Parts: sequence; structure tokens; C-alpha cells
Amino acid sequence: MISSGRSSAVGAARNAVASLLRSSGSGSGGQGGVLRVCTSATCQQPQPSQHQQQAWGAEESISADLGTSFSLRNATASPPASAPSSIFHHRRLMSTSSGDRFTATLFPGDGIGPEISAAVKKIFAAADVPIDWEEHRVGEVVDPRTSSLVTRESMDSVLRNRIGLKGPMATPIGKGHRSLNLTLRKELSLYANVRPCLSIPGYKTRYDNVDVVTIRENTEGEYSGLEHQVIKGVVESLKIITRSASSRIAEYAFKYAKDHGRKKVSAIHKANIMKKTDGLFLECCREVAANYPDIIYEEVIIDNCCMLLVTDPAVFDVLVMPNLYGDIISDLCAGLIGGLGLTPSGNIGHDGVALMEAVHGTAPDIAGKNVANPTALLLSGVMMLQHIGLTRHAEIIHRAVLHVIKEGRWRTMDLGGTATTTEFTSAVCDALKA
Ligand SMILES: NC(=O)c1ccc[n+]([C@@H]2O[C@H](COP(=O)([O-])OP(=O)(O)OC[C@H]3O[C@@H](n4cnc5c(N)ncnc54)[C@H](O)[C@@H]3O)[C@@H](O)[C@H]2O)c1
Repeated sequence: MISSGRSSAVGAARNAVASLLRSSGSGSGGQGGVLRVCTSATCQQPQPSQHQQQAWGAEESISADLGTSFSLRNATASPPASAPSSIFHHRRLMSTSSGDRFTATLFPGDGIGPEISAAVKKIFAAADVPIDWEEHRVGEVVDPRTSSLVTRESMDSVLRNRIGLKGPMATPIGKGHRSLNLTLRKELSLYANVRPCLSIPGYKTRYDNVDVVTIRENTEGEYSGLEHQVIKGVVESLKIITRSASSRIAEYAFKYAKDHGRKKVSAIHKANIMKKTDGLFLECCREVAANYPDIIYEEVIIDNCCMLLVTDPAVFDVLVMPNLYGDIISDLCAGLIGGLGLTPSGNIGHDGVALMEAVHGTAPDIAGKNVANPTALLLSGVMMLQHIGLTRHAEIIHRAVLHVIKEGRWRTMDLGGTATTTEFTSAVCDALKA
């Protein structure tokens, strides 16, 4: 009984995987495929506005070999001496001619999302950032076109604007609709999650020298969403690793390291146990590493990686890993620099489409109390500004927020202070003028 139930469940799962790979249009030539739910609507990507097209057109395409055209400018200019030493190592990715305005999609999100989004909008306005927000709220009913509460129109907004900022979104645990975060990452094919973790000057933690970038594969692995009951009391979850997605994220990590003057890429894995899935991931990393002889490549088992990170984070530089490990390790890294309230991230996809978001969740325990720290979302906004080439605005805002945290008077509760979100936001606005 067990074996027949199991084999039919496995057969159904195989069909589901095959259909996903087919629908993504990949998987040919024995390469596996990018696990991407690609509805016909997703594939008809709206075009960016004219000025955004011009800005992008000015950039150099670096990843044509991967079928992506994420543009990365050949950044040689150093930031002004007064600027923070490094703004997340996320150098100028796009340029825009002066006078241009950008439209960015904004998802305020759930829980503390609306409060911290309001703070970001206020600070951006005070800094005269030439961005118009196109705000999209998560709906209350499932949109059948996306199988989630994120509507097709919201997806299209990101694809059209090519940049966006996202507040946290709640995901019911163990039941309910498809995760909103997963929907966005998969449907928009935001394959790389980049999380820079840098010590904040003046905010004392156990380590002063944290400077680690985690690069997480964002579209497959344990997040395939393929779970089923084999028989009553036995459930299965499928971890999907494909050559194409693994090579793509490895290439992204090495290119990132090279372009940002990084010395080492560490592939994080558990291939001693998951020999096939993590084994394939490592194989792809090794192949890509061979093309970057100037960058040190190493492989570290995830449990050892956790131990090393909490004992001496300086041993790491750029970390690349499958989806779930990236989720866990990046939160661990956030803890090293002072917590979730400080850590930004960027989800980067094909053609440089980018959706930046704070690492933290909706913080339901403090939602609506005006005590949330907006720094993580604000720094995600800074990454967004760098991505579209508004580096001067990015530097001004970054410097202001670091100043307020260092000065210490208006720290929020998570950083040991008593300031409200509103007071912290006003202090950053004041610091912009300093
Ligand atoms: N990217 C996302 O949208 C995202 C990420 C993680 C979790 N979530 C969702 O968020 C919900 C809550 O998850 P959780 O409680 O495990 O994690 P969480 O990150 O929301 O909260 C963990 C702890 O950190 C605190 N915290 C988080 N952000 C803060 C901030 N900006 N300022 C001050 N304190 C902050 C919270 O108060 C809480 O004590 C869940 O539904 C989860 O699925 C969403």
C-alpha cells in the first residue's frame, strides 16, 4: 500500500515538475530548467517608460551569456571622501540624465509595512529624490492569474517600471494562499537575492568588522512549492535544483565579486547529505569559478558556515547558496550587525528588473505602534537609488541615516532607544540638511 501510494505521488510530483519546467520554456538540452511559473501574461512583459528605457539603454549589458541583460556600469569612480565608506557595494548600475524622473512601484505591505513605507516616502521627499511612486496594495482575494493576493496589475507595474520597493508581506503558516513573496520572486523571475551585511558605524555589536554579502538563489530549491501528502501521516516536499538556475546564480555571484573588488566567493551547501541537489549546485559553482581565476573559491558546509559566521564573520566575503540556506544565513548575518531592523536586500532579475525589500517580516507584535525601525526599508531604498544611478541621492540619505544611528539620540526600540518611528524619520530628514 505504502509503496503504491508513494509511487503515484512521486509520479504526480514528477509531472508537476516537468510541467513547471515546460511552462518556463527551459529545460531543453538536458540542462534542467529554471523553475519559473510563467503564465502567458508574465511573459508578455510591459515596456519601461521612455526615460527609463533611455537610462537603461546607456548601460553596458554584462550577462548576455546567461540570457539576462542585467546592466552593470563599469564603476571606477570612488565615492566622495565624505560619503559612507561603501554603500552596500552595490555600485552604479544604471545612469539617468539630469532632470529625469523615475517611476517606482511601491508595495507598502502588511503589519509595520505601511508605517515604514510612509517613513521612506517622507525621507525621499525631503531629499528631493526624483521618484514618483506607483503604490500597489495587496488585495484581499486571490487573483487567479497569479494564484495569490498579488494581482497581475501589481506584477505588471514592476515589470513596466523595472524598479520597486517592497514592504514585508504576511504569509500564513502551514495553510492558505501562495506566499506573496514567492509569487513576486518567481513570477517576476527575480532570481538573485542580494543582502549586504555591513557593521553600522557607532552602533556597537559583538563584531565591528562585518562585511559579508549573501547571494541567495531565489527561484527554486526548497521553495518550489511542491508539497504533497504521500499517505495519511506522511508528507513530502520537493527540493528542485537545476543546472540553469544554479549556473545563473553562481555567475551572478562571481560577477558581483569581480565588479565590487571582492576577493572570495564561498559556496554554502549540504552536499554531504543532499548529494544530488546540492551536488549539482556545487558542480555549477565550480564550473563558473574556473572562469574567475582571480577570485578565491571555497565550499563550506552550511552548519560549519553558521559556526564560523558567529565566531569570526571576517573569514567570509561573498556567500552564494541555494534558496533556503540563503534565507537562514542572511538572517544570521543580520543578527551580527544589530538585527533585522537594519538589513536591506535586493531581488534582481532579468534585464535588471529589481525589487528591493527589507529582510525583516511584518513584525505583527509591534505593528501600528509607531515604534518600528524603518532603516532596513530605507537602506533597501538606497540600494534602489544606486541601482537606477541616483547615487548622489543614495549617498545623502545613507549618510543621514548612519549619522542618526551613530549620534544615538533618536534610536528606535530595537536598537535600545525610545524614539518612535516618526521621531526617527524626522531626525533623518533633519540630518539630510546637515
Ligand atoms: N520579505 C517578507 O515580506 C517577509 C520576510 C520575513 C517574514 N515575513 C512574514 O512576516 C510575518 C512575521 O514574521 P516573523 O515574526 O517571523 O518575523 P519578523 O521579521 O516580522 O519579526 C521578528 C522580530 O523582529 C522584530 N522586527 C522586525 N522588523 C523590525 C523593524 N523594522 N523594527 C523593529 N523590530 C522589528 C519584530 O518585532 C519581531 O520581534 C510572517 O507572516 C512571515 O511570513 C515576510
